[in-house]
Amino acid sequence: MRVIAVANQKGGVGKTTTAITLGTLLAQRGRRVLLVDMDPQGSLTSYFRYEPEQMQKGVYEIFRRPGLSLQRVVVGTPVRGLALMPANTAQATLERQLGGRPGKGLVLAQALHRYRARFDIALVDSPPVLGLLMVNALAACQQLVIPVETDFMALSGLERIMSSLTMVSKSLRRPLDARILPTLYDPKTRSGVEALRQIYRRYPQQVMDEVIPEDPKFREAARQHQPAPVLYPRSPGVLAYERVLARLIPGVIPTAEAG
Ligand SMILES: Nc1ncnc2c1ncn2[C@@H]1O[C@H](COP(=O)(O)OP(=O)(O)OP(=O)(O)O)[C@@H](O)[C@H]1O
Ligand SMILES: [Mg+2]
Repeated sequence: MRVIAVANQKGGVGKTTTAITLGTLLAQRGRRVLLVDMDPQGSLTSYFRYEPEQMQKGVYEIFRRPGLSLQRVVVGTPVRGLALMPANTAQATLERQLGGRPGKGLVLAQALHRYRARFDIALVDSPPVLGLLMVNALAACQQLVIPVETDFMALSGLERIMSSLTMVSKSLRRPLDARILPTLYDPKTRSGVEALRQIYRRYPQQVMDEVIPEDPKFREAARQHQPAPVLYPRSPGVLAYERVLARLIPGVIPTAEAG
């Protein structure tokens, strides 16, 4: 199983949208996909009409009672092949509850390892906070996608996450394959164009070749609680995520289709 985390400590940059869209595109191509909602806010969970205040299964359980069977921690979604390890708002208290417990940064990695035969890919959505939950996401993944909103503040947030990453990868004693994904891009605005230019200049190695455009279909899909690739498979935003997927996992999309 390949584990891809989506993280940025900046809020509202498209993390959850990236996880749902990539996950759905993969499921539509026959992959067995697990979405993991590490965010106590539970945006991914409520996207599929589950209540983060009431979830009896999910991320909280794997921290409280490691070793639970898959059925006790995962729920279904309307998308065939797409499962969800939901969030509970109580996740926010884990940091304090676990205190100095050794190994607390590796709980997700170990849980996913146990379920590795059941899924081809896990996509982990992180909260916009560099804490225990984000560290667990980073420690569990082989690849990291960092969505960055292309606005005039893009670089300031990016500096912070990139330096946090260096710290985490030092403590894990392995490099992280981290890629920056510019999102919410509007080529008609000067701040958008300038932000993109600055990201390319500052992080030429890490930034992906693809850019996710501002596309109102994402908000419309969210309003209808359906992944955008289900409702609007040919919208510019979804097609851009398809190209991102082709870069992240070569071979997953036939080249003709990736265009
Ligand atoms: N490319 C896009 N074009 C237009 N709207 C988008 C795009 N990507 C995301 N959105 C919308 O922007 C809002 C924030 O996106 P999202 O929830 O994915 O961000 P996030 O980084 O997960 O936020 P948080 O930090 O709060 O978890 C949502 O309403 C989403 O529908
Ligand atoms: Mg989110």
